[in-house]
Amino acid sequence: MKYGYFDDKKREYVINNPRTPWPWINYLGNEDFFSLISNSAGGYTFYKDAKFRRITRYRYNNVPMDSGGKYFYINDGDCVWSPGWKPCKTELDTYECRHGMNYTNIKGEKNGIIANVLYFVPLKTWAEVQRLTLTNNSKKTKKLKVFSFTEWCLWNAASDMENFQRNFSTGEVEIEGSVIYHKTEYKERRDHYAYYSVNVPVQGYDTDRESFFGLYNGFDEPQVVAEGKPGNTVAHGWSPIASHYIEVELKPGESKDFIFILGYVENKQDEKWESKNIINKKKAKETIARFNSVSKVDAALADLRNYWDNLLSIYTVDSGDEKVDRMVNIWNQYQCMITFCFSRSASFFESGIGRGMGFRDSNQDLTGFVHQIPERARERIIDIASTQFPDGGCYHQYQPLNKRGNNDIGGGFNDDPLWLILGTVSYIKETGDFGILDEKVPFDNDISVARSLFDHLTVSFDHVVNNLGPHGLPLIGRADWNDCLNLNCFSNDPNESFQTTENKTEGSKAESVMIAGLFVVYGRDYIDLCKKLGKNKEAERAQKLVDTMVDVIKKYGWDGEWFIRAYDYYGHKIGSNENEESKIFIESQGWCTMAGIGKEEGLCTKALNAVKERLDSKYGIVLNNPAFTKYYIEYGEISSYPAGYKENAGVFCHNNPWIMIGETVVGNGNRAWEYYKKICPSYLEDISELHKTEPYVYAQMVAGKDAFKPGEAKNSWLTGTASWNFYAVTQFMLGIRPEYDGLLIDPCIPTDWKGFKAVRKFRGAVYEIEVVNPYGKSKGIKEVVIDGQKYGSNLIPVYKSGTIHKVKIVIG
Ligand code: BGC
Ligand code: NOJ
Repeated sequence: MKYGYFDDKKREYVINNPRTPWPWINYLGNEDFFSLISNSAGGYTFYKDAKFRRITRYRYNNVPMDSGGKYFYINDGDCVWSPGWKPCKTELDTYECRHGMNYTNIKGEKNGIIANVLYFVPLKTWAEVQRLTLTNNSKKTKKLKVFSFTEWCLWNAASDMENFQRNFSTGEVEIEGSVIYHKTEYKERRDHYAYYSVNVPVQGYDTDRESFFGLYNGFDEPQVVAEGKPGNTVAHGWSPIASHYIEVELKPGESKDFIFILGYVENKQDEKWESKNIINKKKAKETIARFNSVSKVDAALADLRNYWDNLLSIYTVDSGDEKVDRMVNIWNQYQCMITFCFSRSASFFESGIGRGMGFRDSNQDLTGFVHQIPERARERIIDIASTQFPDGGCYHQYQPLNKRGNNDIGGGFNDDPLWLILGTVSYIKETGDFGILDEKVPFDNDISVARSLFDHLTVSFDHVVNNLGPHGLPLIGRADWNDCLNLNCFSNDPNESFQTTENKTEGSKAESVMIAGLFVVYGRDYIDLCKKLGKNKEAERAQKLVDTMVDVIKKYGWDGEWFIRAYDYYGHKIGSNENEESKIFIESQGWCTMAGIGKEEGLCTKALNAVKERLDSKYGIVLNNPAFTKYYIEYGEISSYPAGYKENAGVFCHNNPWIMIGETVVGNGNRAWEYYKKICPSYLEDISELHKTEPYVYAQMVAGKDAFKPGEAKNSWLTGTASWNFYAVTQFMLGIRPEYDGLLIDPCIPTDWKGFKAVRKFRGAVYEIEVVNPYGKSKGIKEVVIDGQKYGSNLIPVYKSGTIHKVKIVIG
């Protein structure tokens, strides 16, 4: 069953049934000021950091689902309704939600009135614009009472949810004309406030939550809305909200626009006040003035559209399959931008409180984003590297507001450092900017111990080398990429975090074959980089260490039919045929085949066949098999999940592309694409009632074959799945891959594809690529023609900026 459809021309997903199986959301803003918005206008807003600077309140995990948002209530005499169906849930005559690139348009119609709300955050603006257009489609003049609504959060989203004895006494607002200002804590330790305005005179307002709703009513039935009369209340303590009251008269056929601005302001210490206790509103008024007419809003929206036109023109494909094209050209790239902005902090599954920017996550997210805005990727790389320690270890996360490492979680995840090599190399290959390696980057944000970014890569590489276990494989530390494989945790206490507890580390023999594979892949990247820079001695040193690791993997990491996953604290195998449960894991098959370890001896093909046989399922490749069915104290969180969920044998979509890439290494295009289609959301649109999450973005997890309901997805949006799928499909399957000295074109496609066309902008030039497949092969280059001339290599050179080049590739 479907709940909408793709409108590819407009780059929108159009939802025409408000009862989606889960709130289907979108993100507004792409730099500093952000909002999450669902298809029924649920969601919230924050500035940079969803924990420390939450602007509006939202109620996670509530009944009903998706409570709190940017609501409009329309009282049309005896009927009260909302354009997004929720919160009133009055049956609408028509409903439509269009989620586009950083904007959402929600339209509802009831009794001849159409209410259309456009929500977006204009570029370079610390505010969300809401344009409400009311149209009278009936034959009578209509008199409407319109109420806006948003609820202020007391800034720190964590303390906002506790310490009520204080919170109920701190709220403060100011009301001036049609603008409601939220200034809680502004007079002491904060230099920021928020505001909510409308561009017409209001006939009333409310800022006190309980007066607006009535103590025993929900969002669906505010008392003042039902009564059609605002309370003109001033919040003083308790819970501040902002609601404008506007009386609107519409003649038949008449339409009126109202522009609401929800914004955020920071003032310098000596510019905080206009007069005693009256806040300085200058900046708020400036922003309000920038968007106070329909034409200004239209222009700002056009700017946003142009911005996305540009971003999405860098890589486009015409594959002949609209489901592939809409993901590659639109939604997958969009999701990559979102994961770049938010890491794993704020979605409808991530509360915005628990996590900041992940070290490993952000480096991986970069790879799917770097072609869009390389300068921002550059800044991010420096920020991430600044949270590294001198020994190469690093903070697992940092807070976006202050860019400091997060002490609550600390470090000790031994895969983390290697991802910095991936992030940096992806950036340099895209841009050719080797200069980034000379940037002086602090350790643990301490500028007095800054060293070049290149040195950070060296300590990243060496962190693995300096932390090897008894077999010569990398010690796992707290965990590797699979942060639920907690081999030194040994927790019996439900109040301990699996993520941060290490009850046993002394003398631990816990080693990771996945980190070993990762080390081979990114170690080689490091070697290539050294060679490029003429650091041949260092390249030689690193080469020896990587070669040794390859040997160690073949010796201690191979189980006969597949790669084992790890050794536990005691030195026992994990992910081996010897194990009773979870005999095979996906991660080591992915990394060791991507590294081509034992390719000549047939190990890669064997491992990939084992994946096909044991891990593949109708809805994608599961993480491990058979699932754990009891708690293994020596394995940790992974065995805490019910069989088939999350890291315990769920289809953990993030690592499916590792296998797809592995398949391209052995040239099996049919299988790579078969796997791609299984988890690609646009292919799952028809089973939305089962899949549940948005058909336009990847989810972290789909319930695996051992689950109660296989195929049900969870945790959409903020997942490394976005960048890894984009990386796999664009660079390895369509095979258009940036290298230091050009664009490598090496497709691996299904044998029944006749070819495809793509346009890639790279270092300023435009490559118009045509791939043809006359012999029904998957991989291999028979002929390369550039601008009508035969060319001896499929590494297409870097050209002068602004030039267009036609590249034809014959597979064979
Ligand atoms: C989840 C992981 C996640 C980790 C980090 C675990 O509970 O299963 O997917 O990465 O928490 O917070
Ligand atoms: C989600 C986390 O964000 C990521 O860092 C981790 O690698 C995966 N879960 C797998 O556990």
